[in-house]
Amino acid sequence: MKAAVRTSYGPPDVVRIAEVDRPTAKDNQVLVKVHATTVNRTDCGFRAGKPFFVRLLTGLPQPRVTVLGTEFAGTLEAVGRGVTSFRVGERVFGFKGLPFGAHAEYMAIPQDGFLATMPAHLSFEEAAPSTEGSHYALALIRKAKVRSGQNALVYGATGAIGSAAVQLLKQLGAKVTAVCGPEHLELVKGCLGADRVIDYTAQDFTRDAQRYDVVLDAVGKSSFLRCRRLLQPGGVYLSSEFGPLSQNLVLALITPLRGGKRVMLNLGRDDPGMARYFREVLESGAFRPLIDRRYRLDEIVEAYRYVETGQKIGNVVVSVDPSTS
Ligand SMILES: NC(=O)c1ccc[n+]([C@@H]2O[C@H](COP(=O)([O-])OP(=O)(O)OC[C@H]3O[C@@H](n4cnc5c(N)ncnc54)[C@H](OP(=O)(O)O)[C@@H]3O)[C@@H](O)[C@H]2O)c1
Repeated sequence: MKAAVRTSYGPPDVVRIAEVDRPTAKDNQVLVKVHATTVNRTDCGFRAGKPFFVRLLTGLPQPRVTVLGTEFAGTLEAVGRGVTSFRVGERVFGFKGLPFGAHAEYMAIPQDGFLATMPAHLSFEEAAPSTEGSHYALALIRKAKVRSGQNALVYGATGAIGSAAVQLLKQLGAKVTAVCGPEHLELVKGCLGADRVIDYTAQDFTRDAQRYDVVLDAVGKSSFLRCRRLLQPGGVYLSSEFGPLSQNLVLALITPLRGGKRVMLNLGRDDPGMARYFREVLESGAFRPLIDRRYRLDEIVEAYRYVETGQKIGNVVVSVDPSTS
């Protein structure tokens, strides 16, 4: 089968298209014929081997994981003997963290992994980008136990995590202020449903007069120190990043002990039940992943380069089988 392969850590052009062995479904696994996948920030980090600790997970000094790719949508080609929840031919989507493998024509995943059947009205390319940024967003929102009526601010509302966070917070009934660039104000208000928007080129959002129950930094460019004054007493600062000095990790341990304003990170394991949650919100229309550019699998190096500009709007989709797009 065709796959995007890399055998060393490095820049986008360490990745090339090659023929590799097709995986098989073990007893408890399903074999997915991948129609669409994405290139996201997780793929970029593990491809580059940055931050360095990711190499402890995927191999030192060379990567053991040669085919990256976390998000997928496709059809079930085969199921293992012990599989009872899925049938051959079903359209599925999901997320494959370690050991990756979605940048390929076929991939295997346990039936109890982050996997669900696709809502009928979605194409593969629409379903594939629904689980990476969005599950980081959901994990953070759940961690802070956001409730209906609470005030939330999302910094970086046009990223994969931020654009999902705005929609998922709205779905929970929160009042959302979103911070984004000037050319995306209408998109964030009109399409994503933010109640209020702040243009980060015109206004320093950390000087905003409103107070929030939750501030979610979805681009890792703020700090608890700068955002503290925005929080209500007992408010929560959430971040998709550890911070340049890993300070968010330390603060997430210390701040809950002191009471008052707290820092929280997503350090939890992927919850397979999230796949069913995303199926429901996709089905109801409460969540629709934002899609920026689309590439073919043989253009994946270009997709990596674009994602690494840090300017993508939502998600970058890769068609593995363009005939079904
Ligand atoms: N914790 C984890 O496990 C994990 C996993 C994946 C990603 N991450 C991290 O989470 C962050 C977000 O990832 P992502 O994939 O959602 O990001 P992304 O899609 O690459 O974010 C890009 C978006 O952020 C916006 N942006 C950039 N600087 C901004 C600023 N100063 N203010 C407001 N918006 C800004 C850009 O809009 P403009 O062009 O308008 O600026 C662009 O639309 C990344 O730093 C990534 O490394 C963490």
